[in-house]
Amino acid sequence: MPRAKVLKFNLDTIEKEKLRIAVETLKMGGLVAFPTETVYGLGADAMNSDAVRKVFDVKGRPSSNPLIVHVASLQDVEKFVTHIPEKAIMLAERFWPGPLTLVMFKKPEVPSIITAGLSTVALRVPAHPITIELLKEFKGGIVGPSANISGKPSPTSADHVIEDLGDKIDVIIDTGPTRIGIESTVLDVTVEPPIILRLGGLSKEEIENCIGEVNFSDDEKLLKRSPGTNFRHYSPNARVIIFSKNNEYEFLAFLKKYRAEGKKIGVIMHSNFSERMQNNEFFVAINPSVEDIARNIFNALRELDKKGVDVILVEGVEEVGLGASVMDRLKKAAQLK
Ligand code: TXA
Ligand code: MG
Repeated sequence: MPRAKVLKFNLDTIEKEKLRIAVETLKMGGLVAFPTETVYGLGADAMNSDAVRKVFDVKGRPSSNPLIVHVASLQDVEKFVTHIPEKAIMLAERFWPGPLTLVMFKKPEVPSIITAGLSTVALRVPAHPITIELLKEFKGGIVGPSANISGKPSPTSADHVIEDLGDKIDVIIDTGPTRIGIESTVLDVTVEPPIILRLGGLSKEEIENCIGEVNFSDDEKLLKRSPGTNFRHYSPNARVIIFSKNNEYEFLAFLKKYRAEGKKIGVIMHSNFSERMQNNEFFVAINPSVEDIARNIFNALRELDKKGVDVILVEGVEEVGLGASVMDRLKKAAQLK
C-alpha cells in the first residue's frame, strides 16, 4: 500500500474538508489513525467486520484480544450495549469525555470480531475535539486499539504511527503529541464491585471517589475477562531495567554492571543525580511530575530504541494515582508482569 495520507489539524480549528476525507475513508472500510487525549488509535468502522479484521492484521494483533469502540457521547453507547448500569452512568457523567473505558454487556448485533467472542464490549468517549467531530460526522462507532504494532510502546505522536504503520493504513490525523500519554483505564462494570482490568489515565482513587469501592482482578480471572492483559506489551527492543525512584546508589550499581558487560546503555530518569550524564546521547531527562512522566515515557522508550541501545535503565515512580499506571507500563516493558 502507498504511504498513508497525513491530515494535519490544529486543535482549535475543525477543517471540514480534511475531516470529510477521514470520514469517507472510514465509510469505505479504510483504516484511519486518530488522536485521543491518551494515545493514537487505529480506527475502523465498528460495524464493518472486514474493516475491523484489517485492524487486527496490520497490527499483528491476536484475534483473541478485543477492541475498544469509541463513540461521541453516552447516548451513542446505547446502540452497543444491552443496558447501562447506574455506576456506568455516574462515571460517564463525571469522566467522559476522558481516559476511562467501560466494559458492558454487548448487543447481539455488535460484531463478535470486535469483542473476541466475549459477551461484553468496551466503550469510551475520547476527550479530543477533532476526534469527537470525526465521530459525530461519521455517525457511528469507531474501533480503536492503540495505533502501534502489537507489543510495541503505544504511539503518542503521528510520527510513532508512521514508524509502525505508515505503509499499512490509509489516513493519519495528526494533531501533535497526545496530552496524557498512556492509555485509558479499563473498568468492567458488569460485576459488583466493578473490576479494573487495566490501569491508565484515570486512577483507582478517582474512580472510587465517584462510585465507591472497585477491585483489581486476580490474575486468572483477569485473563478470562480481558485477554489483552495476557500479551507482551509496551516492549522496546532493548532490555528494560527499572531502578527505584531517587535511588542514585541503585542506578549507579546498574550502570556499573551493564558497562562492565560492554552494553550500550540508555537512561530515562527524572531525579537530579550527581552523575546526570547529560552529555550522553542516550540520556533522556523527564520533568519529575508524574503527568510529565506519563506523557513522555513511551516516546522516551521509542527514542532510545532508535539509537540502538541494549539496555534501558528507567527510574520508577511512586505507585499512587497516575503513578500506579506508569509503573504498570514500566513493569510490563521490563517483563516483570
Ligand atoms: O486509551 C486507550 O484506551 C486507547 C485509545 C486509542 O483509545 N486504546 C487502547 O486500545 O489502548 P488497546 O486495544 O490497545 O487496549 C484495549 C484494552 C485491551 O487490554 C483489551 O483486552 C481490553 O481493552 N478490552 C477491550 N474489550 C474488552 C472487553 N470486552 N472485555 C475486557 N477487556 C476488553
Ligand atoms: Mg494497545
